[in-house]
Amino acid sequence: MVPTAEQFDLVVVGGGPGGYAAAFYGASAGLKVALVERDTIGGTCLNRGCIPAKAFLETSAVARHVRHAKDFGIDPGGALSVDFAVTQARKQKIVDGLVKGLTGLTKVRKVTYLLGTGSLGADRTVTVQLSEGGTTQVRGDAVILAAGSVPRTIPGFDRGGPIMTSDEVLMLDRVPARVAVIGGGAIGCEFASTFADLGSKVTILEGLPKILPGLDADVATVVVRSFNKKGIDIRTGAKVTGHTPNAQGGTTVHVEGTDPLEVDAVVVSVGRRPYSDLLGLAGTAVTVDQRGYVEVDEWCRTNESHVYAIGDLIATPQLAHVAYAEAIVAVKDILGESPMPVRHDRVPWAIYCHPEVAWAGPGEEEAKAQGYDIVVAKHQFRANSRAQILGETDGLVKVIAKRNPDGTAGQVLGVHMVGPWVTEQLSGGYLAVNWEATVDEIAEFIQPHPSLSELFGETVLSLTGRSLNT
Ligand code: NAI
Repeated sequence: MVPTAEQFDLVVVGGGPGGYAAAFYGASAGLKVALVERDTIGGTCLNRGCIPAKAFLETSAVARHVRHAKDFGIDPGGALSVDFAVTQARKQKIVDGLVKGLTGLTKVRKVTYLLGTGSLGADRTVTVQLSEGGTTQVRGDAVILAAGSVPRTIPGFDRGGPIMTSDEVLMLDRVPARVAVIGGGAIGCEFASTFADLGSKVTILEGLPKILPGLDADVATVVVRSFNKKGIDIRTGAKVTGHTPNAQGGTTVHVEGTDPLEVDAVVVSVGRRPYSDLLGLAGTAVTVDQRGYVEVDEWCRTNESHVYAIGDLIATPQLAHVAYAEAIVAVKDILGESPMPVRHDRVPWAIYCHPEVAWAGPGEEEAKAQGYDIVVAKHQFRANSRAQILGETDGLVKVIAKRNPDGTAGQVLGVHMVGPWVTEQLSGGYLAVNWEATVDEIAEFIQPHPSLSELFGETVLSLTGRSLNT
C-alpha cells in the first residue's frame, strides 16, 4: 500500500545540474524541498559528461606539455607513456569527491533526498519507486522536472564492444590505438582531441559539410587547422552505413563512397535526446513534443499549473550552466519574484577541446543573417605575449559589434574566441554581450599585462578606431 504523500513546497525530479541547482537554490530561499534521483546525484554532467570528459582532456594537456617539454629546456627522459588506469582512477576520484560534496549539501540544506525513479501524476504528486525497494509518494506545491538527456544512437551502431557513446568512453581503461568518432559536434571534438593528444589515430566522420557546424567560420577554421596538425583525419559529408566487428575486438566502419575504416573503438556522438521516458505524466496537462522535449514557456512552466521543466529535458541549449540558470528562473517564479527569462541566444558556450572554443552571442555570419549591419575585429593570439610564453599561439579573438549610423562600432553583439584557456577568458565578453555594452564603454576597462585576456581588450580597443599594439 502506498502511504499518504508527504507534502513539500517543492519536489524536484532528477538530480543533475538542473535538479540539484533547483533543490539547493529553493532550499536556500527557505522552501521545504524533496529531490528525487534514480542514479547518482550530479547527473550526466558530473558522472558521465562534463566533469569526467574534462578530466581526460587535462590528462591530454599534460601529455602535450611533456611532448613539448624540451622546448622549455626540460628533458622528461624516455618515451612518453600513458597509464590510462591512473587517468581513469584520477578522474573517478574527482567525480566521487564532487558527488560526496553534493550529497553532503543535501543534508546541510535539509533537502529530503529520495533515491529512486519519480513519476508525476495528478495533483502534483510524484510516485517514487525506491531503489532499495518499495514505493513512496511526495506532493509538491510546485514540481520541477529535470530528468536530463541520454546519448542518441544511430541505426547499425548499437552500443556494445567497440561501439561506444560518451557513457562508455568515459569508463575506458585503455587508450584505443585507432578511433572513429561519428559526429563532429562538441562531444565528438572533445573526444577526438583527447585521444589524438594521447597518441591515438583519430578519424572524425561528420555527416554535415563541416565539423562544429554552429561555430563562427574563422573560429572553426582554427580548430580544423589545429586538429589537422594533431593528425586528426576529418571527413565531412560522411555517411556511415554500418560496421563489421573483427575477432580482435575492433571493427570496420563502412562509409558510403569511401574506403572502409578499420578501428579499435567507435565513439558515437550524434547528439543527446531528452530523457522524458520515465516521467509518467498521466493525469497531468504536461505536454511532450515529437522529439521528447517537455514543452515550456519562457519561465520553464509546463502546461500543468505549478509544474516546471528545466535543463536537457526542454529544447534549450544542452549545457549544465543553462540548466542552473533555468533552475533559478523556475524557483524565482515559484516564489513570485517575476524573474527575467534566460536569454538563450546569449548564453556562454565553451568547448574544451584543444584549442579551446568559447563564445557568447552571434558569430559574424549569424549576425548578418539576423539582419544586423556589423563591424568586426579579430586579433590573433600569436601577437599576444602571454600566449608566446605559454607556447600556445594558435587562435584568435573576434568581436562583432553593431554599426552606428556614423559608421563607427557600437553595441557588442558577439564575442568569439579560440585558443589557450579561452573557456576561462569568456566572462568579460559574456558580460559585454549581456550588458549590451558598447565598444567605447568596454574599452575604458583595463586588462592585466601580460595576460591572454589582453587580446579581448585589444580587439575591443581596435573597434574604437584606435589601438596600442596592432
Ligand atoms: P551535437 O548536436 O553538438 O553534435 C552532433 C554532431 O553529429 C553534429 O555535427 C551532427 O551533424 C553530427 N551527426 C548527426 N548524425 C550523424 C551521422 N549519422 N553521421 C555523422 N554525423 C552525424 O551533439 P553532441 O556533440 O553529441 O553533444 C550533445 C549535446 O551536449 C550538445 O547540445 C552539446 O552542445 C552538449 N555538449 C556541450 C559540451 C560543451 O559545451 N563543452 C560538451 C559536450 C556536450
